[in-house]
Amino acid sequence: MSKFIRIGKYVKPNYPIYIGSKAVQKTKSKLDVLDKFTGESVSVIPMADKEFIEESIKQCTLATEAMKKLTPDKKKAILLEIADKIKARQEEFAKTIVVEVGKPWNDAIAEVGRAIDTFTIAAEESVRQTGQNIPLEISSRNVGFQAISKRFPIGPISMISPFNFPLNLVAHKIAPAIAAGCPFVLKPSDRTPLSALLVGEVLSESKLLPEGAFSIFPTTHEDAPLLSTDERIKLITFTGSPGVGWKIKDNAGKKKVVLELGGDAACIVDSDIQTSKLQHIANRILFGGFYSQGQSCISIQRVYIHEKHYDALKQLLVQGASQLNLKKGDPMDPNTFLGPMITEDDAKRVNQWVHSAVKKGANLLIGGKQDGKFHDLTILENPPKDTEVCTKEIFGPVFYIQKFTDFKDTIKQVNASEFGLQSGVFTDNINKAYFAFNNIDAGAVVINDIPSVRVDSQAYGGIKNSGFGREGIINSIEEYTELKLMILKDIGTE
Ligand code: SIN
Repeated sequence: MSKFIRIGKYVKPNYPIYIGSKAVQKTKSKLDVLDKFTGESVSVIPMADKEFIEESIKQCTLATEAMKKLTPDKKKAILLEIADKIKARQEEFAKTIVVEVGKPWNDAIAEVGRAIDTFTIAAEESVRQTGQNIPLEISSRNVGFQAISKRFPIGPISMISPFNFPLNLVAHKIAPAIAAGCPFVLKPSDRTPLSALLVGEVLSESKLLPEGAFSIFPTTHEDAPLLSTDERIKLITFTGSPGVGWKIKDNAGKKKVVLELGGDAACIVDSDIQTSKLQHIANRILFGGFYSQGQSCISIQRVYIHEKHYDALKQLLVQGASQLNLKKGDPMDPNTFLGPMITEDDAKRVNQWVHSAVKKGANLLIGGKQDGKFHDLTILENPPKDTEVCTKEIFGPVFYIQKFTDFKDTIKQVNASEFGLQSGVFTDNINKAYFAFNNIDAGAVVINDIPSVRVDSQAYGGIKNSGFGREGIINSIEEYTELKLMILKDIGTE
């Protein structure tokens, strides 16, 4: 039970799905969306079956030309209108996120702010798409040649988004598609489809978006593969687990593929930082490891601390975690830091990994308890390398700490992972900062902050099992467009 009003004013008992820009209220099967804190069903929504998916791809294909013809000023206007409408309804969006994910209020409202930024950045970029003037006279055989390059929309895109950021990761797929001039079909996570459907409602109100340009719907696991195998779709962008992502790539045929698949983010605290910064660093690590119950691809999983600061920082981290563990409760309450995980099974899995590491020799410094969907904020020390907490992505409120003496050797340990998304390095030594940047295998290295930083205009994505290609507005627009050259001979020479 919760003392906060959830259903009615903000979260509605039903929502339509969108097929070819039109609201659809009824299909053969239905999806129950649960409040992740109370466990109650809050909304019942239609699920698209094969026929609806076919219709959505057909409409998407038909809208290709109209989307391609949208002028930059129109794309900008559409994107700014979306940003404004989300802003006007930000409380509704945030409450929807709290309910469908169980994400604590402060994280949810921050996600809404980020989504507004994401659409705004895309609006700005939509009028900034430039090409190049390319000299081609590279030898006597090419005298008289030059070229102009321009990017063209790739065409229909299919998008699959995860549960953990049900609004902003949807925004990161949709906003650049509009900026690039591509129609799309989006399947949100069936655990958290409501934020995406609210975005659908906002899109359906646009007078400028061509008819049929978007579809948003959950579907079954059996029918979802149609979104990645259909040949009319020219690009698929997926955020989720590596197992599903690489399979999508295997079945994608001639489509372009963008995959964002997760990580086990490492954070190094070097000897060369001032002791006076330790409290700040502890606060940042606690946030990076535990925000949104660790259900983020860049939440901290591994912390390597130089021996000079080890004991002091360990104490600060344990103290801080024990205080944050007290802020457990209803995610709708602004005082809550620790909310429920997405399912009880996930909380159980995390707990099993923690205790299996402890059995094999890890020290449990704080936490370790699971109660239904809640898992305590947990810090381990020195887990053996073959335990799940070291070899797999935890995706829960758990990280481990380990002492080091040699900075370069620690970077080798950071790289000894199947993932490579983002890492963080706290150091006041510019040489070490550059060494880390040059040698850590990852999509980004954050200096003097945690790896859990994502600014919505940055390139975002990873290497190895963390993914393929990059998101971030400019990068996504590049992924969603094809480069074309106009090669010119003897122009302007006489
Ligand atoms: C993710 O889990 O990859 C998203 C992280 C973010 O956007 O902050």
